[in-house]
Amino acid sequence: MKTLLIKINPPGLDRKKIQLAADIIKRGGLVAFPTETVYGLGADALNTNAVLRLFEAKKRPFDNPPIVHLADPEAIYPLVRHVSQKAKQLMEQFWPGPLTLIFKHSNMVPKQTVTNLDTIAIRIPNHPITRALLKQANCPIAAPSANLSGKPSPTTAQHVLEDLDGYIDALIDGGATEIGVESTVVDLSVDPPVLLRPGGTPYEALKTVLDDLKLHPFVQTEVELSLKKTASPGMKHKHYAPKAPVILVEGPQEAVTTKILTLTTTFKQTGHKVAVLATDETQKAYQADIVKSMGSRFNLVIVAQNLFRLLREVDAPGVDVILAEGVSTEGLGLAIMNRLRKAAGYHIIKAN
Ligand code: TXA
Ligand code: MG
Repeated sequence: MKTLLIKINPPGLDRKKIQLAADIIKRGGLVAFPTETVYGLGADALNTNAVLRLFEAKKRPFDNPPIVHLADPEAIYPLVRHVSQKAKQLMEQFWPGPLTLIFKHSNMVPKQTVTNLDTIAIRIPNHPITRALLKQANCPIAAPSANLSGKPSPTTAQHVLEDLDGYIDALIDGGATEIGVESTVVDLSVDPPVLLRPGGTPYEALKTVLDDLKLHPFVQTEVELSLKKTASPGMKHKHYAPKAPVILVEGPQEAVTTKILTLTTTFKQTGHKVAVLATDETQKAYQADIVKSMGSRFNLVIVAQNLFRLLREVDAPGVDVILAEGVSTEGLGLAIMNRLRKAAGYHIIKAN
């Protein structure tokens, strides 16, 4: 299959180009598009065949449902059973935006779209292209991140092509995404509500509305947890992992740098090619084969923007090991550290 490339330069929105993409979705096709978080791969959420094609294209396990995207909050009512007062407050304050909410779903939702669960994940994205596409397609769009299962989520159209060129009908190239990590997932189908995946909306911000919000143990774990008790199917699947092993070094900045310098020397002495994911403050200290800065340790917005691109870039031919610096877990840091810990397969060294 040839993947149609549709180039749109924001902020200029080209209705005709978006209609082309909307028509493909209406006909049961697969279209990748930018959102404010990462690129998504969209299909009509009410078309069973289209949804099954989504799973196939991404090689995604059939037990891990996609997020359903809608143009506006009112559109959730036919899809869900109940919207609590708490949910309404969250929707008011954080939608459109990088927040996904889990509800019990109505009978209207095909079981393939929710992989037989009794709940559905819904988000109203905040990106002009995504919103125009949702309006013009006039259907809910199921959209997991537009990467091959297991790879870092795509933050540019180029990343989508690397993974899915020839396997999807079209790709809207709208430039690099702004936030760089996926949406925060909050389960409202249980009481108290639980944060299942940290993302673009910080836990601290959600707490101001949901004072009883709990963090699922998977969110902040520093060790691999047993896979039996997963509340979110995505938790148990391997994710964000480059081909070379990643070692994450956590602790105070100076201790981290010292540890990474020692590890670099050891690996180089044994003939290994080393890549380091550093920060602006530490980048110059390293003499590895590849050194990339994620951004300043004091500006996690930039670190989040760069993270997935750099995980792809350090995954270069010949690299034997990737040494990554940990950052703070405050604000966006919780999402960043969750992705880095997963990428490292929980191979974490504490430097003191
Ligand atoms: O920012 C984002 O959320 C991006 C953009 C494209 O919107 N989408 C995204 O989708 O990251 P995906 O499919 O890669 O991740 C969806 C996550 C998975 O971890 C999945 O397990 C979880 O949401 N999820 C989906 N439905 C669920 C449900 N009913 N209960 C619990 N978790 C669910
Ligand atoms: Mg994903």
